[in-house]
Amino acid sequence: MHGPTGSNGPTGLTGPTGPTGLPKAELHLHIEGTLEPELAFALAARNGVTLPYADTAALREAYRFSDLQSFLDLYYGLMAVLRTAEDFTELTDAYLGRAAAQGVRHAEIFFDPQAHTARGVPVGTVIEGLSASLERSEERYGISTRLIMCFLRDESAESALATLEAAKPHLDRITGVGLDSAEVGHPPAKFREVYEAAAALGLRRVAHAGEEGPAAYIREALDVLGVERIDHGLRCMEDPELVERLVRERVPLTLCPLSNVRLRAIDVLADHPLRAMMAAGLLVTVNSDDPAYFGGYVGDNFDGVRDALGLTPEQLRELARNSFEASFLDDDEPRRARYLSEVEAYEFGAE
Ligand code: ADE
Ligand code: ZN
Repeated sequence: MHGPTGSNGPTGLTGPTGPTGLPKAELHLHIEGTLEPELAFALAARNGVTLPYADTAALREAYRFSDLQSFLDLYYGLMAVLRTAEDFTELTDAYLGRAAAQGVRHAEIFFDPQAHTARGVPVGTVIEGLSASLERSEERYGISTRLIMCFLRDESAESALATLEAAKPHLDRITGVGLDSAEVGHPPAKFREVYEAAAALGLRRVAHAGEEGPAAYIREALDVLGVERIDHGLRCMEDPELVERLVRERVPLTLCPLSNVRLRAIDVLADHPLRAMMAAGLLVTVNSDDPAYFGGYVGDNFDGVRDALGLTPEQLRELARNSFEASFLDDDEPRRARYLSEVEAYEFGAE
């Protein structure tokens, strides 16, 4: 069958037939960035936290960012409402429900422990809360998951080491480590030691690089931190030799198009280099970053680039295929092959 009468979902029921329904993995998603204003106010009331906004409309009004730092200030501030393990469970359940409705079949989820421990919330509380949701994810939402613990690059290397140490009793829940927060002035090499320690513990490694920072940070993340994926990597396009290397080594880049517009890395979606990156042979994926703040979840990012860049169904399918290829699902894990065959079988139709 073709078109909107097709049966695309895992249940066999008729579902969306555009980029939203396309089965995909989300590989660049900060769970704290899924905190919608309604949940923020509900948690604030429950936890006795006073927010400096009159209501959800006033909070949404504040989502006009001039750069990464202006977003981070609000993002860390709003985390004040996240206090108990249940808060983290609810936050994650809400994300998984939305992600499932946008075709996500596998999610590799970032969290920022230092943003919570700094407020007196123990890392164990955070991980327990996230895990309570993730453990039921496949059964409830049809989404397999991995958890990636990020270090804040504008905090010290010692703080990152202490965070890894504090997380040691919970490492069975954690697949890898990442590096995020304010990029410029905080080059990857600052975190050499903690990445070496993470590798010795068998953790996978990724890092944000080339979002606002220069292409040189991407090289450094590969050479010094030994990362397997680059989060964003947008600015690699300024360095043709680096692009050649990323293509040759098949290093995945986890792009976040709506985020790039909202944080002013680019002016409008039509200027996004995604098409040029695909044409160059880069292994790019499309993700949502902080969807509650940037105007959409991963399916909305797919819709956005299709409309702004005129991507064909086959190009969208390539992006979905890339997302599973770039995931940390084991090569011989049956889910990987199953998801890839779902991508091939997907029937695009009019939305
Ligand atoms: N933390 C949450 N979102 C981020 C982004 N886009 N860049 C760096 N750190 C982040
Ligand atoms: Zn990010």
